[in-house]
Amino acid sequence: MAPISIKSVLISESVDPRCRTILEENGIQVTEKQNMKKEELIAEIKHYDGLVVRSATKVTADIIAAADNLKIIGRAGTGVDNVDVDAATKKGIIVMNTPSGNTISAAELTCALVMSLSRNVPQAAMSMKKGNWDRKKFMGAELYGKVLGIVGLGRIGKEVATRMQSFGMRTIGYDPITPTEVSAGWGVEQMSLEQLWPQCDYISVHTPLMPSTVGLLNDESFGKCKKGVKVVNCARGGIIDEAALVRALESGQCGGAGLDVFVEEPPKNRSLVDHPNVISCPHLGASTKEAQARCGEDIALQMVDMVKGKNLVGAVNAQVLASTFSQESQQLIKLGEAVGAVLQSCSAAQKSFGRVQITTQGDCMKSCARYMTSAVLVGLLSQDSGCSPNLINVLSLAKETGIDITQAHCASDGGAEGACKVEMVAGGCSYKARGSVQGGVPVLLELSDSVFRQPVSLTGNLLFLKASGGPQLLSSVAGLLASEGVQIESFSAPADRSGDLWFCVGVSSLLRDLSILKPLVKDAAQLKM
Ligand code: NAD
Ligand code: MLT
Repeated sequence: MAPISIKSVLISESVDPRCRTILEENGIQVTEKQNMKKEELIAEIKHYDGLVVRSATKVTADIIAAADNLKIIGRAGTGVDNVDVDAATKKGIIVMNTPSGNTISAAELTCALVMSLSRNVPQAAMSMKKGNWDRKKFMGAELYGKVLGIVGLGRIGKEVATRMQSFGMRTIGYDPITPTEVSAGWGVEQMSLEQLWPQCDYISVHTPLMPSTVGLLNDESFGKCKKGVKVVNCARGGIIDEAALVRALESGQCGGAGLDVFVEEPPKNRSLVDHPNVISCPHLGASTKEAQARCGEDIALQMVDMVKGKNLVGAVNAQVLASTFSQESQQLIKLGEAVGAVLQSCSAAQKSFGRVQITTQGDCMKSCARYMTSAVLVGLLSQDSGCSPNLINVLSLAKETGIDITQAHCASDGGAEGACKVEMVAGGCSYKARGSVQGGVPVLLELSDSVFRQPVSLTGNLLFLKASGGPQLLSSVAGLLASEGVQIESFSAPADRSGDLWFCVGVSSLLRDLSILKPLVKDAAQLKM
């Protein structure tokens, strides 16, 4: 991937100072502005290439729409639910997080809430401060021998499990992705939620917030639990349905809740926070010196590595870029973009592309099939007014445009370098181009029915002419171009010259008006590579 240039970054929240230091040490100008209102952020964001947030800044679609220069949104933390990732992707903006920097801190707070629920520590401490000595009221229960159900067995779920096992708890869990044998390796027996609910003394949720996890614990699932089950949410507000939780606490079906997160933060509705059986924290899961130092440092280092073209870690919406950092892949991306651009210019008279088939050929092209498709589409769509395609957004832009894209790979192309073939239909006409990389430079091997005698270097100013290749073509074109002050630098002809075929002419500059070629050729296109 060509290095992405990030010159200025806005940090809109309290992020560990190491973040600023690392960015500045690497020549990036940093502005820190906290507690900005949405309108202020909308007005400000256009001045920056990068934005660093924690969870308080809501990076909504209207903020992204105003972010004319933004190339990256760095989330110093795990959840990216405060960022409209779809809107960012469509705008070609990378969204990056630091998924493991606060795992231990969030897991430790979860364990602290489980322990506090078992022994009423916060309530007892408050009572003591009021001058009371109430030993009966705060009778607790041991964790030893109890069952902890963990919903979401990712990074944090795993750390919670291993810690609570040291208290003698039996840990059971559910995760649709983590394999049963993997979680069994850290002592968690997986089962369906139907089997899990009735067995638990404690339930802790550790999933992302997404449609399938909203209200995972609701009236129905509380109904399936043991009476008096205690629940913890250190993940995201809403995974445990808040209204259902209030009802379960009132009825005694739920014996207590430890909550670090809320649907609305800070919560205006105080019914949970004020409930005597609820222990709550103001979203403190990642609030440790260690987690903040790690997340601040990680997000800055990840951004710097990306800018330097070293690697791409933590991108949640641009996985295609991760494999594009080698010199070889950069050359292939240039090839894909160039072939796409050639086809775009040769079919410019057609209003829209209906179908595009991209075929990588040769064993050496096997691993690049995914980014080649994106690269070709970038070349094809770049001239379209109003959209700025890049490798991040081009697939969604193409989908919106209604292009039917297919991708294929065939093992052999008969050449050592491998090749990329693009066939497309636009306005009812078929076009084809096939290119390769030779000596580090993208070259065109075929254009529709023209198989070029020599590979055409896709560099500089190129004129593509469709004509019947009579002997006078070169001299007549040269004369016409000369009258416009344009010199011919190279001339590539197809091997077979029967019928109307494409020729490629390297020229000193592009023509002001391509239509002057009309008397000599059937079709013409020009392109600055
Ligand atoms: P993770 O991606 O490592 O793990 C999440 C797991 O949830 C994955 O294994 C996934 O397969 C599983 N999952 C997805 N859908 C599920 C479903 N329907 N049922 C059960 N499991 C499901 O994430 P993580 O780093 O462990 O973080 C977990 C949560 O904690 C996230 O919501 C994150 O935002 C939150 N978090 C909160 C704090 C805090 O300050 N309170 C700090 C860090 C992380
Ligand atoms: C996270 O998802 O990382 C946390 O919610 C912590 C935070 O940044 O506030």
